[in-house]
Amino acid sequence: MGASPDMIRSVIRGSGSALPRNAVSNDELATRVDTSNQWIVERTGIRQRYIAGEGETTGSLAIDAARAALADAGIEARSIDLIVLATATPDNTFPATATKVQHALGCNGGMAFDVAAVCSGFLYALATADSMLRTGMAKRALVIGAETFSRILDWDDRTTCVLFGDGAGAIVLEAAEVADDGPGVLATRLHADGAHHEMLYVDGGPSTTQTVGHVRMKGREVFRHAVVNLAEVLGEVIDGAGLSVADIDWVVPHQANARILDATARKLGISPDRVIYTVDRHANTSAASVPLAFDVARKDGRIKPGDLVMFEAMGGGFTWGASLVRM
Ligand code: UT7
Repeated sequence: MGASPDMIRSVIRGSGSALPRNAVSNDELATRVDTSNQWIVERTGIRQRYIAGEGETTGSLAIDAARAALADAGIEARSIDLIVLATATPDNTFPATATKVQHALGCNGGMAFDVAAVCSGFLYALATADSMLRTGMAKRALVIGAETFSRILDWDDRTTCVLFGDGAGAIVLEAAEVADDGPGVLATRLHADGAHHEMLYVDGGPSTTQTVGHVRMKGREVFRHAVVNLAEVLGEVIDGAGLSVADIDWVVPHQANARILDATARKLGISPDRVIYTVDRHANTSAASVPLAFDVARKDGRIKPGDLVMFEAMGGGFTWGASLVRM
């Protein structure tokens, strides 16, 4: 038998991330709302979050993360012909924050747009870029998740304001001919179910209230759906790639709540020490959380070339999805 023929896959060439300067502890929040460090740690695993200050925006964090990812990949910005930026907190209602990133990087002329799938945004952005790379519409992409959720939180609502943080993560994806057992995005599944709008939404917007609005969430309901939906979609992706749970080296989940990460790992039958946890220091950064966690685990040497990595997320909409990538 000869080697299997090469195929075009989207290969991760580098990653980068960016956080606001200011970290805010649970104790600091307890001086503003009726909460405690103990409640937040026990119920969520969160110990601190980063909150954007003056001059820090979704766009500025995205630009910093993108520059770091390009430097890590050793790829020049001008060769990027696609930028897909996942965010629910754009700098402006329009144009897309991705165009701001494009201009700052000096790679004008290719494609640049935002996708809105809230906490699943990075998975939706990754799937979109992967499809465009594999069909030849682009050659090199930046896929970014960037958020400043602190700007849409109701700071008097203890049930939401303690949960979220700001940040950005980015990866560089390149279309490459690889062997069957080579690197790249292997399988992805995305879902949405609009019936659950009221469980996690923002109570404002340009076409309804002409305001930005605040995050509203029925946390317990979202928790229940998250564990069921994530376990299901993870199974679909593993089957779709013709692999088994035992083949997975790392799960890089959306960082909403350490208890959701534990419960999903248990349901999947994967050991918690194969799961990347950054929720303790970043809290829930929505679309930024998966690429932020991925960058942390690559840079600290846990995720290595050849590893099989599962990305997964679930969020407002509901939307959810998972993607299996060989490094
Ligand atoms: O990223 C998108 C996806 N989002 C998620 O995945 C979030 C999913 N949900 C969760 O992570 C959890 O449901 C929460 C962390 C939001 C809440 O944890 P929970 O264990 O489900 O708590 P709960 O909502 O059932 O609330 C328990 C109690 C309530 O008091 P009573 O009614 O039992 O007296 C709340 O009022 O905790 C109270 N509570 C708080 N107490 C202190 C709610 N928030 C706080 C708080 N500090 N910050």
